[in-house]
Amino acid sequence: MGTEAFKMFTDKDFNVRACADMLVVAGPESLAVLTGSEPGGPLPGLTTYPCASDAAVPDDLIAAAKVLVIEVDPDLPQSIDRLHSLGRRYPQLPKIAALRNASVGLVRTLVREGVADVVTMPFQLEELLEVSANALAQLQAKADSHARLAPLISVIGAAGGCGATSLATHLVSDLATRLGTGNEVAIVDLDLQFGAVADYLGSSGSGSVADLLQAGARLDPELVRSVGKVTNGGIAIFSAPPEIMPIEAVDVDQVLGMLNTMRRLYAGVVIDLPGNWTNWALSVLSISDQIVMVVELSVTSLRQAKRRLQLFDSVGIDPARVVVLVNRVEKRIFRSIDLSDVSDTLKREVLGGLALEEPALSSVQNQGLLVHQVHRKSKYHADVDGLAQQLITRLDFEGS
Ligand SMILES: Nc1ncnc2c1ncn2[C@@H]1O[C@H](COP(=O)(O)OP(=O)(O)O)[C@@H](O)[C@H]1O
Ligand SMILES: [Mg+2]
Repeated sequence: MGTEAFKMFTDKDFNVRACADMLVVAGPESLAVLTGSEPGGPLPGLTTYPCASDAAVPDDLIAAAKVLVIEVDPDLPQSIDRLHSLGRRYPQLPKIAALRNASVGLVRTLVREGVADVVTMPFQLEELLEVSANALAQLQAKADSHARLAPLISVIGAAGGCGATSLATHLVSDLATRLGTGNEVAIVDLDLQFGAVADYLGSSGSGSVADLLQAGARLDPELVRSVGKVTNGGIAIFSAPPEIMPIEAVDVDQVLGMLNTMRRLYAGVVIDLPGNWTNWALSVLSISDQIVMVVELSVTSLRQAKRRLQLFDSVGIDPARVVVLVNRVEKRIFRSIDLSDVSDTLKREVLGGLALEEPALSSVQNQGLLVHQVHRKSKYHADVDGLAQQLITRLDFEGS
């Protein structure tokens, strides 16, 4: 309910019961203007509760309200306490403080403490309605932003050893760096049997995706946050379980529920998928905004990539969401084989190549580090960062 509903509120020709639910709590003499002066009786939807500025307000009245307008006497500590206590008990309810003398300092303090707005007393109906409509619109905007799902990127290899996990771990780091402070990006290791994400990122400690996949109805944002290990670089790591987990035992709805929760908590989610296919992995791909397939410039790798892409087609995954990255590109080879050949063969967009980084990549990974943490001028890192930049341009990241 927003401004529209409150326009209806003021329009007596409409059936305005739908916007009922404003509760005004103030001294009886202040409320008289709201209840007595209107031709046709008090406004529908308006509930008034006359009481002193420090008196308790019945919970059932507050629970039924969508907006609360409440008198605050700044000279009376109990009156301020009443407001605080309502703020703690009803954090979602927009609260508007009604003041006799509103100094700028007091207004600032109240707004800082979570009051949506202030109105001055004696009440003026127009002002009250406008301020209430704004408070509701703000609440709606907040709800909309919570409902927003962060982009989901799945990284898969044409076959094992292509470099999918290396790409996923470097990509999540570059996305987090580019999106900046306050925008953590999650990486989820769904290679439940052979996952190496935590090793590559040098992350240790208890807790893994298995705790979330086996949580059933206990899966909630708090549990998800407790499992994700956050690095200084703004990555939330969800590692594979330490002991091998039967991948067919995974419940599709549980995986999708887990990813949905993560998409509300983080600015982006990158998934590393297992090399062998399961139904739930295909379901994960079907909800991914972008699927990045890593291939190598070999006949075998391209053949395997083609087979996988055909499988995706057969289950209805939109080909436009699949992009290809060619790994271990050597400058020398680059000249002889054009990336457009790969695109012609696979009939998918090729976003670029990833430089061969030898032997640096595996040796830094053995130390639990990312390549740019050791080699600042790494070509591989520059390539991954270029990909991160392209993905930020394409996908709807918050704050980008
Ligand atoms: N561009 C590259 N240059 C050098 N080594 C690479 C490159 N990409 C991957 N590797 C190495 O190949 C091995 C397999 O990579 P990984 O990312 O684990 O593959 P996947 O997840 O597809 O099985 C690792 O030792 C990794 O260091
Ligand atoms: Mg892997």
